[in-house]
Amino acid sequence: MIRSSRNPIPTFVHASRVECERALADEIAECIARSPRSVFGWATGSTPIGLYRELASRHGAGRLSFARASCFNLDEYLDLPAGHPHSFAAWMDEHLFSHVDFVRENTHLPDVHAPDPVRAARSYESAISRAGGIELQVLGLGRNGHIGFNEPGSTCETRTRIVELAESTRLDAAHTFGSLDDVPRRAITMGVATILAARRIRVLAFGRAKAAVVHALLHDAVSSECPATFLREHPAVELHVDVEAAG
Ligand code: F6R
Repeated sequence: MIRSSRNPIPTFVHASRVECERALADEIAECIARSPRSVFGWATGSTPIGLYRELASRHGAGRLSFARASCFNLDEYLDLPAGHPHSFAAWMDEHLFSHVDFVRENTHLPDVHAPDPVRAARSYESAISRAGGIELQVLGLGRNGHIGFNEPGSTCETRTRIVELAESTRLDAAHTFGSLDDVPRRAITMGVATILAARRIRVLAFGRAKAAVVHALLHDAVSSECPATFLREHPAVELHVDVEAAG
């Protein structure tokens, strides 16, 4: 692993995804060792899959317990029926929750099935505050610069709210849903300000397809055109990439 302090965000270039996932799993384990009630912020998508596999494997080996921890996911699709296999709730069950020992009530995703989703988005903010705020937020990067589902145009003051998904985001999700028409058009996402309120942020990016957005994150002007650039204003953010995403 090579650490570069020349970038506006401390950047770690790992020899492989696995090396990166182990390093982040170590940090998560240290958080829990120091404070078993730690609060984590989770992302979904292809980027964190290996990290969750690593956490599950450490739990399986009796080396890691989330029994007193809690967590909040970044986002969830709106307008899907409850239990839909491509909801982020189902995804988290498949990739993490069914393999580790979180108490169900301590795992949170935006309540997209509430009678009033606008209110549910606001309550999500209060639930994060009541839990004491997020200690460590795991983030992936959208190819258009989104973080969570804060698409280009999202300002740094945004909080958890209903958003329209960008066409490029829906296109990226089309292969999962089978067709573009089946991809939801809306979601509830933590806002940029919600994400920046986490005490530590760990951004992951793997593969050649992420090289351009990694470059934008580090070198473009900080602006809502590329919401990921707002991460540069966070005091404790780190970027972890593999050699391909480092470009
Ligand atoms: C997922 C999320 C998104 C993804 C991003 C990258 O909860 O909020 O911002 O992190 O779209 O997705 P992948 O990892 O599939 O390339």
